[in-house]
Amino acid sequence: MMTSIAGSVSRFRPGARFITFEGGEGAGKSTQIAHLAKRLEVAGVAVKVTREPGGSPFAEEARRLLLDPALAPQSALAQALLFYAARADHLESTIQPALTAAKWVLCDRFSDSTRAYQGAAGGVEGTSLEMLDRLVVGARQPDLTILLDIDPVAGLQRANARRVSASPGAFVVADTFESRTLDFHQRLRAGFLEIAKANPQRVAVLDAFQNELTIADQIWRAVSARFGLATGDAR
Ligand code: TYD
Repeated sequence: MMTSIAGSVSRFRPGARFITFEGGEGAGKSTQIAHLAKRLEVAGVAVKVTREPGGSPFAEEARRLLLDPALAPQSALAQALLFYAARADHLESTIQPALTAAKWVLCDRFSDSTRAYQGAAGGVEGTSLEMLDRLVVGARQPDLTILLDIDPVAGLQRANARRVSASPGAFVVADTFESRTLDFHQRLRAGFLEIAKANPQRVAVLDAFQNELTIADQIWRAVSARFGLATGDAR
């Protein structure tokens, strides 16, 4: 039996929402996802937090390969294929079941990361990536994408500081993508901003170089306005 996953989401997610978080290195996505998850839970919404690459046993194993500079595929095309294989499994194993159970899915990175990292910064043709996206994601597009925009110099500094504080005294190597040139990270940022410009209905761009709680408030306002939740301080 052919198990196409395209086209099935709207029938399977009454009341559920699919929100993705995107941005370059050190943009603070995971911190902001934790804030939003807490606020949604306070508002009585059931939440599933997940991430890419990862989010299912196969996709977590693919993550290990992709982020290890010694194991990652060399070409951006081979990387994109593996990111999409992981995404297909993540959708089938984790995202779809959570949406079907009427949960709101908050996902740290999704297809826009492939478009920006492997496409805009890595050189894979946009049309090839869109073919893959139609095949794998189809109608399961996010309802809302929060793009945390940051200057790559500031973002990479934050990512470095985070690595050092996670393993004080240890020499921790940057992963496959963190260690790319500044030029790569600048193309990446421009790529994300292009995606936002082309999809103004779906993508909300926020300045990630602000105070953590200011950004959390802006995200909460964007989410509650978009989905009709009561606003107010849910902290
Ligand atoms: P992660 O440690 O999750 O980084 P971050 O905290 O910045 O999200 O590592 C994920 C890395 O994988 C990150 O450098 C972005 C990259 N990536 C791609 O290149 N393409 C993709 O499709 C995805 C989902 C991630």
